[in-house]
Amino acid sequence: MKGIVLAGGSGTRLFPLTLATSKQLLAVYNKPMVYYPLSVLMLAGVRDILIISTPSAIPDMRSLLGDGSKLGLNLSYAVQNEPRGIADAFLIGARHIDGDDTALVLGDNLFHGSGFPELLRGARDSLDGCTLFGCPVPDPERYGIGEVDSAGVLLSIEEKPSRPRSDKAITGLYLYDGAVVDIARGLSPSPRGELEVTDVNRAYLERGRARLIELGRGQRWYDCGTHDSLLAASRYVQSMEKRRGERVACLEEIALQMGFIDAEACYRLGAGMRQSAYGRHLTEIASSMGGALRHDSAA
Ligand code: G1P
Repeated sequence: MKGIVLAGGSGTRLFPLTLATSKQLLAVYNKPMVYYPLSVLMLAGVRDILIISTPSAIPDMRSLLGDGSKLGLNLSYAVQNEPRGIADAFLIGARHIDGDDTALVLGDNLFHGSGFPELLRGARDSLDGCTLFGCPVPDPERYGIGEVDSAGVLLSIEEKPSRPRSDKAITGLYLYDGAVVDIARGLSPSPRGELEVTDVNRAYLERGRARLIELGRGQRWYDCGTHDSLLAASRYVQSMEKRRGERVACLEEIALQMGFIDAEACYRLGAGMRQSAYGRHLTEIASSMGGALRHDSAA
């Protein structure tokens, strides 16, 4: 499975925060926002990832994440010159996808909670067409909304409906089979001039190949696109990390857990940031797995 992080757009709802900085590089508590969607792809076991961003943000994304090799990933970058809709990611990423299954995650989405990695891997392994992830929200007119029957079968999908048929937001994480590029190529732009991901999802629904998985209790989703949701996401990460002692989207730790890097490499990455609690956490977990010993004797 290939991965795409869509980190484009101009973040206008976050002005003036985003006048000079890309939204996806803003802080969510103690990490750049893009760490959170990237962690989702890594937890799904996806290592070949395309980051799509604006011409001005790509140099900063590159200096933050590089070619991904430090995390055992293969990262590449592509430009989206102007916001042309989420489904434009499949046209920009057609060569990267190359007929494979694809996981697309929006660069401002945060997912976390107990059982989420297992839910994700189960969805990846049983993918047949398209899999969406739903979450009840108090303000459904802000999102793509899915209507399901009592058996959980998806009946309709609408983008930001003024009269929503349900409160189930379709989150910004989408799994698709290799047909997605052709489906995106066949779309017409919406009235706002964009290629809508909701139209891709509806095409799968019409073929009877769209599934909606609801996030479970204790699993959280934030779209950090407004000042309030950005603050709420930061507070959530702070409370998980401070009170529960759990790290959220600690990429080096996930790379270690997933077997993408070894303990020694993790130790080295932590040692380079040991002035911060984040860096010290990495050296501690790597040491507990023997990374420090090997690192010190190699030095
Ligand atoms: C986009 C999608 C919407 C989805 C949301 C999730 O909306 O169009 O269907 O529910 O992301 O974050 P946007 O946030 O770009 O307005």
